[in-house]
Amino acid sequence: MVPDGGRRSKVVELPLQCYTHLEMARSYLIDTMGCQMNERDSETVAGIVEQLGYEATDDREQADFIALNTCAVRAKPQHKVFSKLGELRRIKEQRPHTIIAVLGCVAQIAAQEITARAPYVDIIMGPRNYSHLAGAITTAQARADNDPVTVTDTAEVIPEGLPVARTTPVSSYVNVTYGCNNFCAYCIVPYARGRQQSRAPEQIVSEVEQSVAAGHHEITLLGQNVNSYGQDLNEDCDFADLLVQVNCIKDLKRVRFTTSHPKDLSASLVAAMAELPRVCEHLHLPIQSGDDQVLERMGRGYSYEHYRRVVEAAREQMPQMSITTDVMAGFPGETEAQFGNTLRAFREIRFDQAFMFKYNDRPGTCAAQMEGKVPEEVRQQRLEQLIACQNEIAHQINEELVGASFEVLVEGRDAKSPEKVRGRTRTNKIVIFPASSDLQGRIVEVQAQQAFLWGFLGEAVGEACSQSIGSNIQ
Ligand code: SAH
Ligand code: SF4
Ligand code: F3S
Repeated sequence: MVPDGGRRSKVVELPLQCYTHLEMARSYLIDTMGCQMNERDSETVAGIVEQLGYEATDDREQADFIALNTCAVRAKPQHKVFSKLGELRRIKEQRPHTIIAVLGCVAQIAAQEITARAPYVDIIMGPRNYSHLAGAITTAQARADNDPVTVTDTAEVIPEGLPVARTTPVSSYVNVTYGCNNFCAYCIVPYARGRQQSRAPEQIVSEVEQSVAAGHHEITLLGQNVNSYGQDLNEDCDFADLLVQVNCIKDLKRVRFTTSHPKDLSASLVAAMAELPRVCEHLHLPIQSGDDQVLERMGRGYSYEHYRRVVEAAREQMPQMSITTDVMAGFPGETEAQFGNTLRAFREIRFDQAFMFKYNDRPGTCAAQMEGKVPEEVRQQRLEQLIACQNEIAHQINEELVGASFEVLVEGRDAKSPEKVRGRTRTNKIVIFPASSDLQGRIVEVQAQQAFLWGFLGEAVGEACSQSIGSNIQ
């Protein structure tokens, strides 16, 4: 709206076919929950709907296609899906032509519950089935009845060549594998995403090249267990071999990867990390527990001693590296002494950061059937103990780094203070420092001046380099 007295733009008569186009312009909104896998999947979903002529909008009230890309890893994100669906009921009543899609992990494992509780949902689709999305939308547009188009096939092979509309300016995600074969006792992911499917190395390299050509400087390679990449391929290529190939890509500044599994992390991968200049010195290595009996019951396939040795070997070759982890408090049967072993592991290993969770029953998993469930208040109290322990350690680690300088890849303006920018070190710590947002995508040398749990406030000390790829470059 132009306020009275303001400048009005000239009304231009459009030819008739333009009006037809305007009437047909449709908009979409994707609400993404969960992990990086879902973030990357949402870019595929966006690519598909854009090919159908939809344009992105932030306005839920106006969108013609609304997708919830959902997470089922714990009960809370799953409940959130149903409360969001409750809010969408009104939109569907007011704008019946709006297509509502539930995608992702909850769609896969709870399709019937979605249909029963939200019969106005038009599409229910699991994370392996997006090659059917365009067809499902076209069907939903044409359909008079209320049955949703439901596709939940975890055995489907995900094809190459699905469209993608990337949303981030500096970094992007590229899948190396889909699914997971590990069936850790507590985990819903293998049920939601099916068995591991490794992509051919040339497909991965080609996607990274395209992303770099489109202006991305940093790539994060994604898999539930990147270290088992290639085990299901006909050719002889493991994750370390893949990193060697990706590291050669011209104009790419940084390569990251997640998640690593301690049972499959090889010496050759650690050597590749240490030697390849574009590969960042950060390992996300979920420990889950520091107690051997709990690890055994979780079906993780390693002991604490093994975990500790892997970390030691990696730190020996990359003393400056950071290590982050996932951990769970109160797995079924976990005693106070077993939990104490997790606390001890945290003190011994000294993680840079940890994602800490209370164990949560996921229906259909082995752990959900186990005896000896730990009461909620005990799980809560153990979680709080872990958080307190980890916060103290992370703060100490970052405090010791104050005064040091880091190469920071600038991601953009800091949301809270517009005169500052925000970026990450190679070790994946956030750094916020005063600078112009023109530096987006550049690597700047920044001195850490004040430590926080998440990283540092700092000040630029070096020239921005357009093509730095790490201090150990040959
Ligand atoms: N593939 C990754 C983990 C994916 S799920 C890996 O192997 O580590 C992300 C994290 O959620 C897990 O590492 C675990 O710490 C947590 N998580 C998974 N299932 C959970 C459950 N049932 N209750 C609580 N936390 C859980
Ligand atoms: Fe879940 Fe284990 Fe697979 Fe990770 S490795 S996704 S925790 S089953
Ligand atoms: Fe990710 Fe949640 Fe699915 S963590 S794999 S979106 S269950």
